[in-house]
Amino acid sequence: MAAEEELNISIPSCLHMVSAFRALEPTDVVISFAREFGGGSVTENVQSCIWHHCISKADLKWQGPYLRRFLKKLILEIESSGGLVLDELYEQYTSYMISLRDYVASKGNSRVLKTISFLFPNESRGFESCPKSRKLEVQLRCSVNMLEGDTGCSIWPSSFFLSEFILSFPELFANKCCFEVGSGVGLVGICLSHVKASKVILSDGDFSTLANMKVNLELNHLRTGNQTSGNIVHCVCLPWESASEDDLRGFSPDIILGADVIYDPSCLPHLVRVLAVLLKHDRSDSDLSAGRDSDTSPDELLIHPPAEGRVAYIAFVVRNIDTFNYFLALVEQANLKITDLTEKIQVSNFLPYLRSYNRSTIRLFKIHV
Ligand SMILES: C[S@@+](CC[C@H](N)C(=O)[O-])C[C@H]1O[C@@H](n2cnc3c(N)ncnc32)[C@H](O)[C@@H]1O
Repeated sequence: MAAEEELNISIPSCLHMVSAFRALEPTDVVISFAREFGGGSVTENVQSCIWHHCISKADLKWQGPYLRRFLKKLILEIESSGGLVLDELYEQYTSYMISLRDYVASKGNSRVLKTISFLFPNESRGFESCPKSRKLEVQLRCSVNMLEGDTGCSIWPSSFFLSEFILSFPELFANKCCFEVGSGVGLVGICLSHVKASKVILSDGDFSTLANMKVNLELNHLRTGNQTSGNIVHCVCLPWESASEDDLRGFSPDIILGADVIYDPSCLPHLVRVLAVLLKHDRSDSDLSAGRDSDTSPDELLIHPPAEGRVAYIAFVVRNIDTFNYFLALVEQANLKITDLTEKIQVSNFLPYLRSYNRSTIRLFKIHV
């Protein structure tokens, strides 16, 4: 069955329900979209849609415990409102109860596979000509517990925002060599490839994060390689503390990016040094403005005037004001300029169904020489 075609993407609550399920959003969120889609209750039609587009496509290996929780809540919701539960849903729930009991006990799996769907409205720039491009789906293997030690294996909210920024202004990144610090699961890099950056270099200081990032790039059909190979996405191990100036100069990026990398005060002097070396490395202005033409929009000119040269875009949540002020002081000491872009530009909301992502807490800064 061509289930993708049957999905009624003209009904936002249907699209949002399926997208939220694939992103493993909290089960209550998915069920509230299901209720909305059914006009107040989870009707048999809605259940059938859930069956075809969510349950039957899910992968027990990666989503088992989530599926079981979701089905339990869904069945309770339908029964408590006096509705009839489809046989398929009951049967599936029973089968999960049996098969997952042993599976979870033996593995205690803390990795899941989420599908993040960026939903582009029709009028999004750069996507008009191809209806199939109305969404970008990114598969990410990630950790379920942010605080379990492998920080870089979780998806942090600023990487959603930085990805939306890239997809809102694709021309800023097209044909540019982009370098990301602290790349984590690799979401930003996948978006940079999507908007046709000429080269994407992702870096992280943690080996298990790098290994997981490579898995994610492969899951999304991107080839990975080291710095010297001809592949499109390059993954490099780059601890900020030990990155040498020579190594950093070798990357020579046009644009530097970072999401949620401002949180540990002890790392900040090293991170700012890395940013300063990457930003100050000589390169002619004509190289940097290459690829920009008369179509450049006023917003793009505001974000990145050609005279500014190389820039870094850093998105983060200000969790501790002292850490933030320390970062600002280090940037100033390094003779770099910093501008808060958050209120100045309109970053599109391509993830309207992702209720666990609170974009209002995120700030986007531009840093340049
Ligand atoms: C909070 S996570 C953010 C990950 C990703 N950018 C995101 O937003 O989902 C911080 C990332 O920075 C990396 N990191 C932290 N300290 C680092 C250091 N000193 N050198 C290099 N990478 C570091 C971590 O391994 C992790 O991947």
